[in-house]
Amino acid sequence: MRVSLSLLPLFLLGTFAIPSSLLQRRNDTIPPFFLLAGDSTTATQSADGGGWGDGFINTTLFNGARGINYGHDGATTVSYRSGGYWATVLEKVQEYKSDYRTFVTIQFGDNDQKPAANITVPEYTGNLEQFVHDVRNAGGTPILVTPLSRRDYDNSTGTPTIILNLEDQRNATIVAAERTDAAWIDLNKASTDYLNAIGPADAYTYNLDADDYTHINVEGSQVFGGMVAALIDQIFPELKNDGYLEVYPNLLTALEEGEYYWP
Ligand SMILES: *[C@@H]1O[C@H](CO)[C@@H](O)[C@H](O)[C@H]1NC(C)=O
Ligand SMILES: *[C@@H]1O[C@H](CO)[C@@H](O)[C@H](O)[C@H]1NC(C)=O
Ligand SMILES: *[C@@H]1O[C@H](CO)[C@@H](O)[C@H](O)[C@H]1NC(C)=O
Ligand SMILES: *[C@@H]1O[C@H](CO)[C@@H](O)[C@H](O)[C@H]1NC(C)=O
Ligand SMILES: *[C@@H]1O[C@H](CO)[C@@H](O)[C@H](O)[C@H]1NC(C)=O
Repeated sequence: MRVSLSLLPLFLLGTFAIPSSLLQRRNDTIPPFFLLAGDSTTATQSADGGGWGDGFINTTLFNGARGINYGHDGATTVSYRSGGYWATVLEKVQEYKSDYRTFVTIQFGDNDQKPAANITVPEYTGNLEQFVHDVRNAGGTPILVTPLSRRDYDNSTGTPTIILNLEDQRNATIVAAERTDAAWIDLNKASTDYLNAIGPADAYTYNLDADDYTHINVEGSQVFGGMVAALIDQIFPELKNDGYLEVYPNLLTALEEGEYYWP
């Protein structure tokens, strides 16, 4: 089922940018392959982690489009490379690029910002820029993703409001995208706006465990995976038009209206 392009989600408006250079590279004839690079907020649901990646792969890809979740619990932009996970992603770009249009989503920040990681914001920014160059050299299309918001609310004003504790990393991700003329989506802003709209009680139903305000369960993965797909559809609309990347209409409407959704 197709959703009209005019139904752009309210909470997703203005949260993306596409450089003109990418428009020339579109190839509508072959399906996309999404390789998801990131930390536990992208990774498959497990005891200690769980992000949006599997929900994205399970529920938004159609018509021959595929994806693999390479999110790794605890990863920083440094450890993802030194641990060999990044090399695997680049190998997969090489492997799939003749049969698919390969995209690599790149989302870090949660662990990079921890003091123990000892990674400055300029270092984090430079590491993201290097990831962009590496993907292009391998023959893929990078998409930088600002980090999924945590579900930490400040109640001091009387209206629970998400605490912007990933803002440095959000802004740095956008800087890295602008410096490299790469596509980017503002998942941090879109998720923050949505969590503010639905409030803490509903937001906590997506917690991996009752007191885990960072990681998301299967249902949360499908909601925020759908949000990622909606954001990507806005910068690569041909993916939606060709039926490769689509968000369930009821979820898209909920994101548009800022209403709680349970798959
Ligand atoms: C699109 O992909 C097809 C199949 O790989 C290829 O034959 C064609 O040349 C590509 N077109 C462009 C514009 O890159
Ligand atoms: C994705 O699908 C697999 C296989 O059916 C399932 O085990 C997993 O729970 C699903 N995860 C999400 C987030 O949809
Ligand atoms: C943090 O990184 C800097 C620069 O790489 C290094 O000089 C310093 O020793 C590191 N600090 C710790 C506590 O690891
Ligand atoms: C804000 O309110 C929510 C829901 O009542 C609560 O779970 C949360 O702990 C509160 N946040 C703080 C920082 O006190
Ligand atoms: C992040 O960027 C926004 C503009 O998009 C700005 O308002 C905000 O002050 C920046 N925050 C930090 C911590 O630099």
